[in-house]
Amino acid sequence: MPKKVIIFISLLLLFVAQPAQLQDDPAAEPLLTVMQIMTAIITPMTATIWGAYELQTDAEWLEIENAALTVIAAGNLLTSGGASDAEQAAASEADWQTYNNQMIAAARAVITAVGQKDEEALFAAGNDALYPPCESCHQQYQQQ
Ligand code: HEC
Repeated sequence: MPKKVIIFISLLLLFVAQPAQLQDDPAAEPLLTVMQIMTAIITPMTATIWGAYELQTDAEWLEIENAALTVIAAGNLLTSGGASDAEQAAASEADWQTYNNQMIAAARAVITAVGQKDEEALFAAGNDALYPPCESCHQQYQQQ
């Protein structure tokens, strides 16, 4: 076999053997910073949940449920931290995951309260369960 053909085949095999690098999928990496997740998702959604008062129509309850689902989606993103290496390093710590899981569990409690249309349970989930993990995580991880 001519040398050029061998080199060509070798190169071909090299590329075939590394499909992951060739088809690098940017969407598989965290795309948002923690700050963007906080200000664009967490802040407006928790404002909706904490602002709930004398809910009457199904649409009003549904809005709370959707806000809680969106907090869970944000928690899902925060599992891998944010776009920077430092944020991913923070997310590799057990405490980070604990606070994030507490926030997700609180959002689930909100959804349960919505399912029962129980405003007292909704307040309890919002104040006693949803708020504390925000504080804990900020105390430990937010740069002053
Ligand atoms: C798992 C950790 C974690 C949890 C849980 C968390 N945050 Fe954050 N949050 C952060 C970090 C880290 C920052 C700082 C980001 C930065 O400085 O780049 C931040 C920043 C913020 C900011 C921006 C503050 C500023 O300086 O402008 C707001 C608002 C915020 N968080 C709201 C919330 C609320 C509300 C909750 C709870 C429902 C919450 N966060 C839960 C980690 C968390």
